[in-house]
Amino acid sequence: MRAITLQELGAAPALAGDLPQPGPRPGEVLVRVRASSVNGFDKMAAAGMLKGRMEYRFPVVLGKDFAGTVEAVGDGPTRLGIGDTVFGVVMKPYLRDGAWAEILAVGDQYGITWVPEGLDLPIAGALGLAGTAAVDAVDAVAPRPDETVLIAGATGGVGALAIQYAAAAGARVIATARPGAATDFVRQLGAAEAVDYTADLSGQVRALAPDGVPAVVHLAGDGAQLAGLLTPDGRLASTIGFGPDQHPAATSIMASPEPATLDRLASDVVAGRLRVPITRRYDLAEVPQALADFSGALGKLGITVP
Ligand SMILES: NC(=O)c1ccc[n+]([C@@H]2O[C@H](COP(=O)([O-])OP(=O)(O)OC[C@H]3O[C@@H](n4cnc5c(N)ncnc54)[C@H](OP(=O)(O)O)[C@@H]3O)[C@@H](O)[C@H]2O)c1
Repeated sequence: MRAITLQELGAAPALAGDLPQPGPRPGEVLVRVRASSVNGFDKMAAAGMLKGRMEYRFPVVLGKDFAGTVEAVGDGPTRLGIGDTVFGVVMKPYLRDGAWAEILAVGDQYGITWVPEGLDLPIAGALGLAGTAAVDAVDAVAPRPDETVLIAGATGGVGALAIQYAAAAGARVIATARPGAATDFVRQLGAAEAVDYTADLSGQVRALAPDGVPAVVHLAGDGAQLAGLLTPDGRLASTIGFGPDQHPAATSIMASPEPATLDRLASDVVAGRLRVPITRRYDLAEVPQALADFSGALGKLGITVP
């Protein structure tokens, strides 16, 4: 099968044309992948930055998000059946079986659920990891109606979804974005205010919220600086490892793609409550270019597996 692989640490990710197809082990299903997307995790995995935290079993097939159709099931009872349309996030504790492949073997209990009617596969393929991180981070700060939430890193895949969840909770969202297209982008998703993180961020936030902000979603930037903008009883949720050891108000989030969370994301999209802004699409063979384009891109970069 064709897949985007990393052959060794330090190598560039590249398309391999003749990889053996995985077989499903008990408790696993084989998914014919149709769509995926790029996440920060993929960039780190491709760059070898997860060495010491996760085992690389070469050749590593990269890619976390997937959407596609179940083609086979492993021995034993399975939750999913052949022909089911599914999406989710590869959650294996090692790096080898990734989603940027024609066929993927994944466990059928966690990190996977059904694609409901009305959810397009390219959207489902871009929803799993960023959506779960957005839900988990916004839930962790639990914005109340009319509270102000500062989202740092609002222009990325997680941020684009977090803006919408915070705004849907009735919060006033201040989003980081550079002037121009990025500011238009965050406003269209529901941000009331945009602040330019390349200028005096603290000054801009203080001008909008002189008493501080009760909630911060930390997806990029300096956690300590952002924590310094909190009200005395404020909460901060970070997807980039800023936790209670760094500041008492901080919670470090590890996105957990429970089927219930994936179902919630899917139904929000189908109901028109959540938009997944895929700003550019790439074929499987173009993934190296998608990885190169990831930094600086707005929203999600989608991958199509023909
Ligand atoms: N813990 C978890 O389970 C988990 C799950 C998902 C994601 N993550 C992490 O969460 C982060 C966000 O994910 P993502 O997929 O949304 O990444 P992303 O698409 O790269 O988004 C990050 C955004 O932050 C902007 N940015 C860069 N520096 C900034 C700064 N100093 N202040 C404010 N914004 C800044 C970037 O804009 P520019 O284009 O201007 O650089 C980019 O749009 C990543 O680090 C990712 O690895 C963690």
